[in-house]
Amino acid sequence: MLTSTIYASTLLSALAVAAPAPQVPGYTDDNFPVTVSEPTGAPASSFGPDSQINAVVPTPIPGPPRRSSDVDGPTSHGPYSGSPTTTGAEKAPTTLGKTITPLPPNPTHTYYNPNGKLQDPAPIPYMPAGGLGTNGTLPRYQVNSDFDFESIQLGLYQEWIELDLFNNGLAVFSDEDFIEAGLTAEDRSYIAFMAVQETGHATLLSNMLGEAAAPQCTYDYPFRTVREFIDFNQKLTRWGESGVWGFLAHLDSREVANLLSLSIATEARQQMSFRQMLGLHPMPVWFETGIPQSWAWTYLAPYISSCPENTTRLAWQNFPTLHIVNQANPNRFLPNDTADFEVTGKRVADPARSDIKADESCVNLNVTGYGCGPAIARNRSEPLSFPGKQVNLTWEAPGQAVGPNNSYVTATTAGQPQFVAWVSQLNLTYTPLTVTGNNSGFTHQPAGEVFQGDPAVNGTMFIALTDSDIFLTPFNLSMINPHVVALGLYQAG
Ligand SMILES: *[C@@H]1O[C@H](CO)[C@@H](O)[C@H](O)[C@H]1NC(C)=O
Ligand SMILES: *[C@@H]1O[C@H](CO)[C@@H](O)[C@H](O)[C@H]1NC(C)=O
Ligand SMILES: *[C@@H]1O[C@H](CO)[C@@H](O)[C@H](O)[C@H]1NC(C)=O
Ligand SMILES: *[C@@H]1O[C@H](CO)[C@@H](O)[C@H](O)[C@H]1NC(C)=O
Ligand SMILES: *[C@@H]1O[C@H](CO)[C@@H](O)[C@H](O)[C@H]1NC(C)=O
Ligand SMILES: *[C@@H]1O[C@H](CO)[C@@H](O)[C@H](O)[C@H]1NC(C)=O
Ligand SMILES: *[C@@H]1O[C@H](CO)[C@@H](O)[C@H](O)[C@H]1NC(C)=O
Ligand SMILES: *[C@@H]1O[C@H](CO)[C@@H](O)[C@H](O)[C@H]1NC(C)=O
Ligand SMILES: *[C@@H]1O[C@H](CO)[C@@H](O)[C@H](O)[C@H]1NC(C)=O
Ligand SMILES: *[C@@H]1O[C@H](CO)[C@@H](O)[C@H](O)[C@H]1NC(C)=O
Ligand SMILES: *[C@@H]1O[C@H](CO)[C@@H](O)[C@H](O)[C@H]1NC(C)=O
Repeated sequence: MLTSTIYASTLLSALAVAAPAPQVPGYTDDNFPVTVSEPTGAPASSFGPDSQINAVVPTPIPGPPRRSSDVDGPTSHGPYSGSPTTTGAEKAPTTLGKTITPLPPNPTHTYYNPNGKLQDPAPIPYMPAGGLGTNGTLPRYQVNSDFDFESIQLGLYQEWIELDLFNNGLAVFSDEDFIEAGLTAEDRSYIAFMAVQETGHATLLSNMLGEAAAPQCTYDYPFRTVREFIDFNQKLTRWGESGVWGFLAHLDSREVANLLSLSIATEARQQMSFRQMLGLHPMPVWFETGIPQSWAWTYLAPYISSCPENTTRLAWQNFPTLHIVNQANPNRFLPNDTADFEVTGKRVADPARSDIKADESCVNLNVTGYGCGPAIARNRSEPLSFPGKQVNLTWEAPGQAVGPNNSYVTATTAGQPQFVAWVSQLNLTYTPLTVTGNNSGFTHQPAGEVFQGDPAVNGTMFIALTDSDIFLTPFNLSMINPHVVALGLYQAG
């Protein structure tokens, strides 16, 4: 861009003399490709002063207030040791059934356009018929059902932990710790910027919820090193993002869905950036997956230690934890060598341990195919996982206290576990579970594709133990919940 700006005038005169022959075979456009000479000579060594360009002194236009300042609110961290004043998920006065009954397609969903012509009268010129919220109704940026309220409230819990988490890593690790992990001062300010983005997201979601919007809580983190901090961030933002993709299209309020999309697009970029900081491929998939709200809440809750008195409670389910015994360690250049339970703790999304032997670590290895320091993209000679990999599993019994003040309880309504459900990209794939003990078993990583050339299982993704292999697609995936025995987070790549 810069090159073409600088050389534009040279180019034009060159073109006037003789149009260059096309460099790209088959390219017949008259103006492109053109021959461009890259700048030569010594790079700049002094940096100003430069041109004074026309400008006025602007009148500041302050934005509306945020619900939180840049700086993290509660500064204490750690587990909660007390007794909750209330227990269990928020419940409606009446619950009408145990499962959702499958129905035929919505009878009004019949549109089909065989010829590319508009089928219905257009309301105004250049405006095809249809769409929601396009007929002049005044937008109302407020949740419009219990479903909306609980979904956005869950999103708010997530934004609050991100605000605290990103700041916390910057606070507890030294500049040298970050350098050791390959992250510079510019990277640290980028992480700090991401934390400030969360103040905006938390404010937006609070505004769409109203006075019952939850405040920030106190958290208990599973990392001890910068690498583990970054790994936890890429996991946490993965379920944060996927949790929203799961419910976004189901919201009653299109206005809320509109604004939420605009914030989750930012969260998606955060997730990718944290993968890059961990030296993982930034996005080894063609589609990002969506998960039900109760899944996102299951992953999030164990890291919240307590919330202030009267914090609005959530209605979502907490599933028992599924442990991936031989979860691949992204800090190893040979992930096959990962030891059992090579994670920092026993919670569902605890990061891989980075305190492995130096001669087994890829963190400071400057060898293509083996290094895993921060990078825009990395190739791994040995992938973290592969189709056919035996995946050993253990799972917890329901009835455990989790979440803020240990005031939620893990639960399942499923029968005996029989399958492992792999949720990634557009797909839900089941593999058979071989049970080897009361709460242990194994399966093998599936090999299916989304579309030709796109293996479904890759990246940071989701697995569940289920009692059945019911067929579900992205828009009815939450019907899996009554069949879920336990939930885990799988590091496929
Ligand atoms: C959780 O703990 C905090 C701090 O001790 C307390 O203020 C709050 O009321 C507790 N909430 C519940 C639901 O127990
Ligand atoms: C406008 O569209 C909404 C759905 O988006 C519908 O509920 C409402 O009845 C429509 N209003 C009119 C005047 O047609
Ligand atoms: C919590 O709610 C109760 C009941 O409405 C109220 O009496 C109490 O003052 C509230 N506590 C706080 C800290 O807002
Ligand atoms: C990792 O294990 C798989 C399956 O046994 C094997 O195919 C692969 O070669 C192993 N990787 C290396 C580098 O040995
Ligand atoms: C990595 O290795 C390459 C090739 O040997 C070298 O050019 C580069 O400077 C090295 N980078 C670092 C950060 O050591
Ligand atoms: C990286 O991997 C791709 C295939 O995924 C391969 O085509 C490419 O040659 C690899 N690049 C390097 C530098 O190893
Ligand atoms: C994930 O994608 C990367 C990059 O394309 C590839 O090298 C790797 O083998 C894939 N992993 C799996 C499990 O398919
Ligand atoms: C998985 O468990 C089986 C026993 O069920 C054991 O033989 C195998 O070594 C385990 N594999 C890993 C990678 O832990
Ligand atoms: C499995 O559970 C049964 C019944 O609760 C118990 O008797 C048995 O010892 C357990 N087996 C193992 C390996 O824990
Ligand atoms: C993945 O999803 C696509 C699109 O729905 C489907 O065509 C494909 O068969 C699925 N693949 C697997 C392995 O489930
Ligand atoms: C989920 O949707 C798919 C269509 O995309 C349908 O085939 C399947 O039967 C549905 N599952 C349930 C349990 O309704």
